[in-house]
Amino acid sequence: MCGIVGYIGFREAYPIVIKGLKRLEYRGYDSAGVMLFDGNDLKVSKTKGKVSDLEEKSKEISQSGTIGMGHTRWATHGVPNDINSHPHLSNSENLAIIHNGIIENYEPLKKELIKRGYVFKSDTDTEVLVNLIEEVKKKENLKLGKAVQVALNQVIGAYAICVFDKQKPDEIVVARLGSPLAIGVGKDEFFIASDASPFIEYTSNAIYLEDEEMAIVRLHKPLKIRKIKDDTIVDPYIQELQMNLEQIEKGGYDHFMLKEIYEQPNVIKDTYRGRLLANEGIIKMAGIEDNLEKFLNADRILIVACGTSWHAGLVAEYIIEEFTRIPVEVEYASEFRYRNPIINKNDIVIAISQSGETADTLAAIKLAKENGAFVFGVCNVVGSSISRETHAGAYTHAGPEIGVASTKAFTTQITVLTMIALRLAKAKGTLSNSDFHRHLQELEIIPEKVQEALEMTNEVAKTIAAKFKDSQNCLYLGRGYNFPVALEGALKLKEISYIHAEGYPAAEMKHGPIALIDEQMPVVVIAPKQGHYDKVVSNIQEIKSRSGKIIAIVTKGDTQVRDLADYVIEIPDTSDALSPLLTTIPLQLLSYHIAVMRDCNVDQPRNLAKSVTVE
Ligand code: M6R
Repeated sequence: MCGIVGYIGFREAYPIVIKGLKRLEYRGYDSAGVMLFDGNDLKVSKTKGKVSDLEEKSKEISQSGTIGMGHTRWATHGVPNDINSHPHLSNSENLAIIHNGIIENYEPLKKELIKRGYVFKSDTDTEVLVNLIEEVKKKENLKLGKAVQVALNQVIGAYAICVFDKQKPDEIVVARLGSPLAIGVGKDEFFIASDASPFIEYTSNAIYLEDEEMAIVRLHKPLKIRKIKDDTIVDPYIQELQMNLEQIEKGGYDHFMLKEIYEQPNVIKDTYRGRLLANEGIIKMAGIEDNLEKFLNADRILIVACGTSWHAGLVAEYIIEEFTRIPVEVEYASEFRYRNPIINKNDIVIAISQSGETADTLAAIKLAKENGAFVFGVCNVVGSSISRETHAGAYTHAGPEIGVASTKAFTTQITVLTMIALRLAKAKGTLSNSDFHRHLQELEIIPEKVQEALEMTNEVAKTIAAKFKDSQNCLYLGRGYNFPVALEGALKLKEISYIHAEGYPAAEMKHGPIALIDEQMPVVVIAPKQGHYDKVVSNIQEIKSRSGKIIAIVTKGDTQVRDLADYVIEIPDTSDALSPLLTTIPLQLLSYHIAVMRDCNVDQPRNLAKSVTVE
């Protein structure tokens, strides 16, 4: 994964790079490093740990220079330590590189370079790449840009790189394949980063490099973009950024995750704004309207995604099948890409991804396209790789999600997918007019209900968190639309509090997991009034008779479950199909409070990164 930042211009580079790295720390945070060039000398400081540790460490070097590059790492090759941190220098110490990605064939390349006398200090694939560039440059007497291009043509893998040559200190060479890279274009200055957040206060003009493109970012010269393979020149396409500074700051909240949980009423509204006109009975989404026939003629919809986005896909399976009667299958992108799946011309593949950069989902999309499927993306990050790789799509408009645990991405993905299901149902006539209008009306008022759910559940979630913060395990149960919510609740708890948690369909419990239940086992049961309420009540009885501790999510005013459960959390009433948008709120808050009480790093949990750009 990793985050990269570069600057070349007239300002001091160090503060720009450090601030940029802090904004990109969600991409990886096990080590960090910086390189600065002050006109004479190239200085590097790097360390295991976070960007704040780097700030301490880099007090040892002079921090001046108007050219700089920085890196925040999520280790792939080599443990997180000072030496394996980026930037890496070539043997001559003329070249410096930062890299996000994996060079898969680094071993044979390394062996070859060792034969030619190169010495390696780190265990990384990146140090191989910088020395390969050096070797090509020296052997063929090439300029840096050409040497990078020749070297990259020998490399198998994924990369977003910045390379600096102290012998040619007015340029940084950048390239991408499979990992994101944005270039901020200012007046007499350029910014380079994994996403645009490091430079939004300096410029709103950005160029997103496409796969297999490289650029020479040179002071006082127009940017030149080329294809790495055949050197063809590409016209730079400058996009106007939609992000603002406020969106990427905590805004008074202790953690990004909490801020993002509380943003849900507004962002759900942003998601359907201009698309859902409930009073007129209209849903219009450009990506669907333009491809309506394809959707209506689809034999099957295949959904590919990972993690929380996969859970949103499961909710969508229930909704789309129920509303449209189109068969839906949901696959982990990581399995799909490697299992020779049956993909037909009349299949539609929907790829769901918050970041739009998840390597497995991207690979699944490529496979689906190769097999002739029409691929529709549901992404949050505008201009991301998945949004560009898909034939059409719909953005979720959730705004930047920085906490590693996905929250608002999940609810906005469900909102988009529900609108798609409703639009298709209308066109197919698979929902009655009155049901269609009822769902539209209900979706329109869901943001107010999410707001109400936040107000109703936060304090009680905190109280329950205090009781269960030291648990070793936790079960989450739900049925129907709320089975995926049980999976999502369990994922939230395990990823940020490190408590083992499992989600199950409530009725499956008797086929095994019930053996786990004793008086130590908290069991979160999602039991809203709509849906399979009576069946869930029976499941609660089964847990109670085995002394499990029941935490039930119920509809406001429920009395039956209240009598059985140890703790209840009430949420507003809504339709069965939309209930995941409300039931998920107390589960997010419960995980959040437990993680805070356990002193865990909520926004940057161990071993994780926000955007998983490696397979
Ligand atoms: O950016 P994506 O939606 O493609 O990411 C997929 C997963 O990596 C992501 O949902 C992950 O599971 C989150 N940490 C869950 O909170």
